[in-house]
Amino acid sequence: MSKQYQAIRGMNDILPSESALWQTLETTVREVLAAYGYHEIRLPIVEKTELFARSIGEITDIVEKEMYTFADRNGESVTLRPEGTAGCARACLEHGLLHNQTQRLWYAGPMFRYEKPQKGRYRQFHQVGAEAYGMVGPDIDAELICLSARLWRRLGIRDVALQLNSLGSSAARAAYHDRLVAYFESRRAELDEDSQRRLYANPLRILDSKNPAMRMVVAEAPSLPDHLDPESRVHFEELRALLESAGIAYQINPRLVRGLDYYCKTVFEWVTDTLGAQGTVCAGGRYDGLIEQLGGQPVPGVGFAMGLERLVAMLAATGHSGVDPTPHVFLITAGEAARRRGLALAERLRDQVPALRLRMNCGGGGFKAQFRRADHSGARFALIFGEDEASAGTVAIKPLREAQGEQITLPQDQAGTWLRAAALDETS
Ligand code: HAM
Repeated sequence: MSKQYQAIRGMNDILPSESALWQTLETTVREVLAAYGYHEIRLPIVEKTELFARSIGEITDIVEKEMYTFADRNGESVTLRPEGTAGCARACLEHGLLHNQTQRLWYAGPMFRYEKPQKGRYRQFHQVGAEAYGMVGPDIDAELICLSARLWRRLGIRDVALQLNSLGSSAARAAYHDRLVAYFESRRAELDEDSQRRLYANPLRILDSKNPAMRMVVAEAPSLPDHLDPESRVHFEELRALLESAGIAYQINPRLVRGLDYYCKTVFEWVTDTLGAQGTVCAGGRYDGLIEQLGGQPVPGVGFAMGLERLVAMLAATGHSGVDPTPHVFLITAGEAARRRGLALAERLRDQVPALRLRMNCGGGGFKAQFRRADHSGARFALIFGEDEASAGTVAIKPLREAQGEQITLPQDQAGTWLRAAALDETS
């Protein structure tokens, strides 16, 4: 096999053997989102670089190191979207979707981050995101969390836990920011290079440091929940009460700060320890300042995004095999006339029984070879259409699996009804 052309590192093909699971996941996600009244929005994959820098934050890993940014042919700097929240907010503003109205929206598709590829972490990965605008209270935060919890139940995914934190209002964050800077300045000699760089611009991210050498400094830092403003404290308490009344278990993680700058108040992550190091399957929070920051009137927002590669891996571990694309019937034709009329017969059967998965023999071959293909296809029945059947207006049906009875011959106009009952187990 030629190795001349290979996919770009960290960008994966999703092969036919895997796509059934993806479809199961995507269909279930769509159904659950629709059940909560969310509408799909389809967004461009490329946006102006400035949009991401402004929303996600200049001093974040994503903007500093991970964006696929290039000059368009007219010299404008554009970026492959690293996430969907910024584009969604931009689209809502641009099309006036936020004037005196609420919105519940979702999107799906590929995102791009130049990260170090490893299991569960890719350079092209896929997200489904949900964003809700115009609702200021914790009820919508709770609804989004309930929605994600329902999705796990529908998918049979058990090993995920909800982590919750509040970052407070932007004013409280600013005050906490100053406290943190003062604290980290006092321990400056113990900070690693990344943290030194973030000290003034983004000290909250130091709390998130994965460097074991930083553990002590981080552990002794002023705690975020102690610095919440009263409004955020009430919001958080109400959210907790709502989740408790809905029977959703959670853990408070005071070190959960998230890697994007637009968040305030609620932040959450669904995490699992079944996937190794990349255990966050869904993450999000509230971003009440983002719309204003992008030039709109202040409109509160809250949302989440889930990583589909990670969820597919979890689904596979539950033993799910996904939507079954195996044909129900395989049409074997013999002789020139039958071969020609076979196509028309297949089309008539597809008209009559739209759910029937019928694979027609293409590419020639004698009876024996065609039977082998029929058997190989996994179909339950072979339809045999030779010269005799073609001239008599009939078709023979031969069961291929277990004890499904003898071969029969039916008039062509009865074959659809028979197959609907026998292959789809439907009687009408
Ligand atoms: P995020 O935490 O950057 O948030 O990404 C959300 C999820 O996308 C992660 O929890 C993970 O499952 C998946 N993900 C992220 N990066 C990768 C990667 N390199 N490879 C595979 N999966 C990955 C956001 O993107 C926010 N926009 C979420 C949000 C929406 N907040 C409010 N609304």
